[in-house]
Amino acid sequence: MEEQLEGPTQEEVDSLVWWHPFTFPNGVKARGLKGGTSSEYSEECVRVEAEAAFRHPVRGKTVLDVGAWNGYFSVEAMRRGAKRVVALDKPAWEDPYFQGFKGFDLARRYLAPEVEAVVCDLMDLRHNPVGNFDLVLFLGVLYHLKHPLYVLETLFDLTVEHLVIETQLDLTDCDRPAMVFLSRRRNGWRRFQLVGAECPMCDGHAGGSRLFAGRIYSPSDF
Ligand SMILES: C[S@@+](CC[C@H](N)C(=O)[O-])C[C@H]1O[C@@H](n2cnc3c(N)ncnc32)[C@H](O)[C@@H]1O
Repeated sequence: MEEQLEGPTQEEVDSLVWWHPFTFPNGVKARGLKGGTSSEYSEECVRVEAEAAFRHPVRGKTVLDVGAWNGYFSVEAMRRGAKRVVALDKPAWEDPYFQGFKGFDLARRYLAPEVEAVVCDLMDLRHNPVGNFDLVLFLGVLYHLKHPLYVLETLFDLTVEHLVIETQLDLTDCDRPAMVFLSRRRNGWRRFQLVGAECPMCDGHAGGSRLFAGRIYSPSDF
């Protein structure tokens, strides 16, 4: 008899809105919004991002995936041999339209059951400690925050080796460290805060409008 590979049904997957694309062991695909809304799967986009985010190997390390949404990078950290992975989120997980936790839980069930989930708003993290982590992924979250420096300090304090930041750039022609606050909101819970390329918290390779950083920041950098 042919072995049945595990995975959800396509119907189950299609009933949810996905931010991250996934291919389940049984071949069923989740179509992610990340990387564009074209009918193309955005798998190439997240693969390229994962190569940058995991520039420092995670085998045997502990990883905190901040703003994990459907958990692509949490699953990827496990796949790359991390010994413990915690996915943290709240807005997208509790949003009635995105219902992000349902997708996260489905991906976790079939792709990386060991991933732990913590529901917490980043503004409350200092008072609800989750421990220290060798690698902290802070991808695509900074620009949502009303108090980005406060959250950066919180994350710095729990990072043992590397805090990896991916964010959007603005003010790239400004000759001093700079930030711009855009009061525009989307979906009721978004605030956009864009960070200039020369901001002292930024390091590493800035490509296009996105920035990847991969070093430990000291609060005195801010
Ligand atoms: C653009 S998505 C990025 C998802 C994923 N990290 C990635 O790079 O593909 C932003 C994520 O940050 C989460 N987020 C935004 N503000 C947050 C907050 N205050 N506390 C916890 N998570 C937050 C959202 O729920 C969402 O899942």
